[in-house]
Amino acid sequence: MRRTLAGFLVVGATCAALLYLSADAGGQEIGPALPRTARAPADNPTTPAKVALGRLLFWDPILSGPRDVACATCHHPQFGYAENRDLSVGVTGVGLGHRRRFASRGDIPFVKRNSQTVLNVAFNGTDEAGGYDPAAAPMFWDVRARSLEAQALEPLKALEEMRGHTYAEEQAVDAVVARLDANAEYRRLFAAAFGGGGTATAANLGRALAAFQRSLVAADAPFDRYMRGDRGAMTDAQVRGMGRFERIGCIRCHKGPMFSDYQTHVLGVPDNPALPVSDAGAGDRGTGDRYAFRTASLRNLAFTAPYMHNGLFATLEDVLEFYDDVDSRRGRARTPNVSREALDPLLRQLRGVDEDDVELLAFLEALSDPAFDRTIPARVPSGLAVGGRIQ
Ligand code: HEC
Ligand code: HEC
Repeated sequence: MRRTLAGFLVVGATCAALLYLSADAGGQEIGPALPRTARAPADNPTTPAKVALGRLLFWDPILSGPRDVACATCHHPQFGYAENRDLSVGVTGVGLGHRRRFASRGDIPFVKRNSQTVLNVAFNGTDEAGGYDPAAAPMFWDVRARSLEAQALEPLKALEEMRGHTYAEEQAVDAVVARLDANAEYRRLFAAAFGGGGTATAANLGRALAAFQRSLVAADAPFDRYMRGDRGAMTDAQVRGMGRFERIGCIRCHKGPMFSDYQTHVLGVPDNPALPVSDAGAGDRGTGDRYAFRTASLRNLAFTAPYMHNGLFATLEDVLEFYDDVDSRRGRARTPNVSREALDPLLRQLRGVDEDDVELLAFLEALSDPAFDRTIPARVPSGLAVGGRIQ
């Protein structure tokens, strides 16, 4: 009897401690600031020659089957290296951002997801202490690739992004490498970056694109300056908003200097109606068919609307309204795809979300740094339109 009582007391005490912790957002602390430069994997140290080559490759539509789409088409500095439209339009598209559309009614579908920014992508995977491993950095909304080097070759193979019907998926990378190898200027640039007589290879194509993207760092937001000790860098409203961000519980998933735990969670964001619904259900069921998606970084949101994996929400107010709906007070799931029980427990623990929370919105603004590299090359070695058909 006494033993049982002692056990009860221990359990009771643990529960009280847990309650206390959860009232304090799991005891999690905000920050730290981002470092000003990013580390690279051991086998791909960043050099100026690699960054210069990577920048040209990033802007050159020679990487796409029909030579009309570049990486920059969907990751453009005008939109914080993301894209100002919900779902991307790849090959056969014309225009930039919300003006972009299919030039003809072919059979190329929308890319099924919203373009992620590549600004600060060098820090993907950063934990709460600021540690990260660039060789294993999680990539994509469903974390299906690891490292920028590995990620870089994927868009070349995707039908709706860069491949089109020009070649088969298995031949895409070799075909692009052969094009680069046939270009005297690229051979010179590959020699300058990697030696080896200037032969382009798939591995070095991935390395150059990764090195360039690692140079796209925006680590001087008001929040970063505040965390480095400049207490005047954030307004009073932003500082109060930071407190709300912790107390409401946003920090349970949006943590560390990138404001992401880099885990996937079931939030129940509704489908984008533009995606065709198959017999099996919606067009995009995320990780493990559970509608789980990776926690988005909250860096540079001022430039990267619309939001969520399918770009469904045009504004941050819309995002807060969504969280307000799933907030425990109301307990509504917004989509028939996911039951309330299947929603992430950390989501169900949110307390006090309000779509008109001006202080919380002010804090989110403090996470944007407008002073990032917006350089657009004057020309690319292929002689094709810089950035693809974006005019
Ligand atoms: C047609 C538009 C389009 C093109 C072209 C494109 N991307 Fe993307 N990019 C996207 C979309 C959409 C996602 C999210 C895809 C997903 O999660 O399934 C993405 C994701 C990424 C990510 C992951 C970011 C993160 O935080 O996980 C990186 C890095 C990236 N792209 C780099 C590139 C590079 C390099 C190229 C050129 C070789 C390229 N992209 C070409 C649309 C595009
Ligand atoms: C359970 C973990 C979790 C909690 C708690 C959480 N988020 Fe999120 N957040 C996510 C995930 C996962 C996504 C991506 C979901 C998707 O696209 O389907 C996301 C996306 C976002 C986005 C969109 C960013 C973009 O670039 O598209 C914003 C803004 C955001 N969250 C803000 C917040 C705020 C503010 C709170 C607190 C009110 C909060 N989140 C609480 C996990 C969480």
